[in-house]
Amino acid sequence: MSSPGHGRTWPLVGRAAELDDLDDLLATAAGGQGVTVLLEGEAGVGKSSLVDALRGSARLLDVQLSTARASSMRPWPFAVLSDALLQSPSRTPLEIELAGLLDAFYAAPTVPDDEIVRAGAMFADLLRKRGAARPWALVLDDVHESDAASLDVLHELAHEGALHNALVILTMRPVPYRPELAAVVAAWTRAGARHLELRPLSGRATVELAEHLVGGPVGPSLRGTLATTGGNPRFVADVVRTARSSGALVTTEGVHDATGSVWLVPLDEVVRRRIEYLGNDVLVLLGQASVLGTSFVMTDLAMLAQEPVADCWRTLRHGLAAGVVRARGDRLVFGHDLVRAALYNGLPPDERRALHARAAVALSEAGAPAQIVSIHLDRAR
Ligand SMILES: Nc1ncnc2c1ncn2[C@@H]1O[C@H](COP(=O)(O)OP(=O)(O)O)[C@@H](O)[C@H]1O
Ligand SMILES: [Mg+2]
Repeated sequence: MSSPGHGRTWPLVGRAAELDDLDDLLATAAGGQGVTVLLEGEAGVGKSSLVDALRGSARLLDVQLSTARASSMRPWPFAVLSDALLQSPSRTPLEIELAGLLDAFYAAPTVPDDEIVRAGAMFADLLRKRGAARPWALVLDDVHESDAASLDVLHELAHEGALHNALVILTMRPVPYRPELAAVVAAWTRAGARHLELRPLSGRATVELAEHLVGGPVGPSLRGTLATTGGNPRFVADVVRTARSSGALVTTEGVHDATGSVWLVPLDEVVRRRIEYLGNDVLVLLGQASVLGTSFVMTDLAMLAQEPVADCWRTLRHGLAAGVVRARGDRLVFGHDLVRAALYNGLPPDERRALHARAAVALSEAGAPAQIVSIHLDRAR
């Protein structure tokens, strides 16, 4: 299956099982049963691409597909629901009335609450009725950015159970946490929604994706950098694109590889921009953690950050939810060494040295081996 979206021209790599699952659910909906799916996964893992790939199956099964992507840049009432439901050229009387109401909202300086409630009830009605004649699918991408009024409608409907004759897919990132979204997720969970967590690509699929992007086999140096992407397709694309645009990509006897290390500087910048959404507190703490290496122990980080462990946890929770760090027993591990390196290289040199000096003390007190402590002492100079 290929799709015009996202500039992709090849089938999705490494997602056969997930696509099969979604195809099955679409077939279930086409058979007249309502299904709701909550698709969660870290930024760039491929949520939008996966739901985009449903278009082909929807056409085959003759299921009408309505999709929209929420955006925090468009916070006005019902932005995402009206994108999904009111854009068709042939509208029902209810849709025409609703569109008229929204036009009036958007023209007015303020909208009275009861008008919002009325429009919300009309959207709920529209969603209930849309499947009356034939099955359909609704994909709302990035609901973590949805306007509040649309979330309210989704919340209300969850009390009635899955939408009649419909496959509803809501995609979302686990962070930043929004209480309104958490309430929607909880309500749909109680209504029997399926949770699908989109995991990073395997090592093999990571290389396969890079090979698609460069147009042939990739060499050892590029593979080395690809291994730091933690299987995140967006980072894979960033690696390939940055190597190419920096002129570091060379082809020798049909094998594509990156030469030198100069291109890693702009790569770090690209990666740091990708994680800006985590917010300053989380990024500062993760920057400190980057000094400790790919994996670290929470109490060591707390010593380094000069904060109580509980405070560190509270901040790091967001990094955990975002998949930037993962818990492995009592250790924490950076999910993508690419991100750790970008954070580390982004530390001002003075600060980095000071952190290494503190790490040497903290680790030595905690009983770390002398050779580890001395690595930090070296880097503190
Ligand atoms: N399985 C995949 N195979 C090939 N490319 C992918 C795959 N998953 C994602 N991509 C590419 O990676 C980038 C990020 O994917 P996207 O679907 O936008 O992630 P998300 O919606 O989870 O943030 C896009 O450029 C997309 O085309
Ligand atoms: Mg997306």
